[in-house]
Amino acid sequence: MRKEVELFDVIKETLDKLDGEGILLVAGDPPNPMTIGWGTIGHIWHKQIMTVLVRPVRHTFKLMESIQDFSVCVLPEQYRKQLSICGTKSGRDLNKVEACNFNMEPCIKVQSFYMEESVIHFECRIVHKHFLDPATLDPKTINRYYPQRDFHMVYYGEILGVYKK
Ligand SMILES: Cc1cc2nc3c(=O)[nH]c(=O)nc-3n(C[C@H](O)[C@H](O)[C@H](O)COP(=O)(O)O)c2cc1C
Repeated sequence: MRKEVELFDVIKETLDKLDGEGILLVAGDPPNPMTIGWGTIGHIWHKQIMTVLVRPVRHTFKLMESIQDFSVCVLPEQYRKQLSICGTKSGRDLNKVEACNFNMEPCIKVQSFYMEESVIHFECRIVHKHFLDPATLDPKTINRYYPQRDFHMVYYGEILGVYKK
């Protein structure tokens, strides 16, 4: 049974995974899961906000550009293989939900999906987005992370629900 929890109760576990094997950004209908390693959780405009960063080359970018809502899902320890599939294969070429055997459920508060297998999931609505601006980005960061100049789009999702198994 999944229950709604406070954001603060899941921040440490979520950021540990984000900085480790990754977590999943789920966008689109039918849903496409993509592994992410970068993002923030914070407070802006008196809202709880999660940002996710998506390079324009990703299939997920195309999906994010056509929707308002997304989910972010944290998988348990034994799902490293699935995280690797979702972080190396594109939804353009592969149905990753089928390949990973995920059981998708409709989100509770937004128009997206989460996988039953996740231990935590966030339901978010996009309230702002922008490309990273090379004019104001540290040149060392540009050289290290953007040799192709494929700057991320940063999506700001208002967190409308946080759920734990
Ligand atoms: C651990 C890990 C973290 C990743 N983090 C991100 C990220 O934050 N943003 C991003 O655009 N791609 C990230 N990627 C790459 C995408 O997950 C990968 O390119 C994926 O195949 C794109 O899927 P899609 O084409 O279905 O969107 C990451 C990959 C791994 C393995």
